[in-house]
Amino acid sequence: MTERGNEVTVLRVNTDEIMIDSDSISKMVDEVASRINADYSNEIVVVGVLTGAYVFVSDLVRKLKMPVIVDFMQVSSYVGENSTGKLTIRKDINTDIKDRDVLIVEDIVDTGRTLKLLKAMLEERGARSVKICTAFNKPDRRVTDIEPDYNGFTIPDRFIVGYGLDYDGAFRQFPDVRIVKQER
Ligand code: IMP
Ligand code: MG
Repeated sequence: MTERGNEVTVLRVNTDEIMIDSDSISKMVDEVASRINADYSNEIVVVGVLTGAYVFVSDLVRKLKMPVIVDFMQVSSYVGENSTGKLTIRKDINTDIKDRDVLIVEDIVDTGRTLKLLKAMLEERGARSVKICTAFNKPDRRVTDIEPDYNGFTIPDRFIVGYGLDYDGAFRQFPDVRIVKQER
């Protein structure tokens, strides 16, 4: 339930159906971390995309063996007059990424618009390399040529919550991933 002024809005959704349980998520984090550990031995800068990625970043970085700098960025993408869209930075990283290896960590890649713009922006700042790691991937929804370098779960086109992902700001705290259904 969220309160806006005097208005009280009840989130009329059902989140009973689990898509991915928490044990499977833990195994996924181990697997993704071991692939990253195999690819990098020198320092990397992890750029977590707020807010959704905070849970995955927290789990993932604790399994990484190379030196890791953790920073966060909050962005939103708008589809403007041209198809590339526009990126608005709400919170920038504090780290200078010039000549450094950057790993963007996202909760989910959906249309790919956000990551397409974010990756280009970090490359523009002179990063030596920019790779993308996502916990969940919905390829059916893609409208850009962005593909994650490290992908946890490929999932069908359903709206999910939990493990950091929200519906209207809610349900990020679930340790598993659940499907959102409208209550009738
Ligand atoms: P896109 O790839 O630019 O379309 O944006 C991806 C962003 O949309 C993610 O970082 C999430 O914040 C949000 N998003 C996409 N699909 C879902 C979902 O199923 N549940 C919750 N958030 C989602
Ligand atoms: Mg997001």
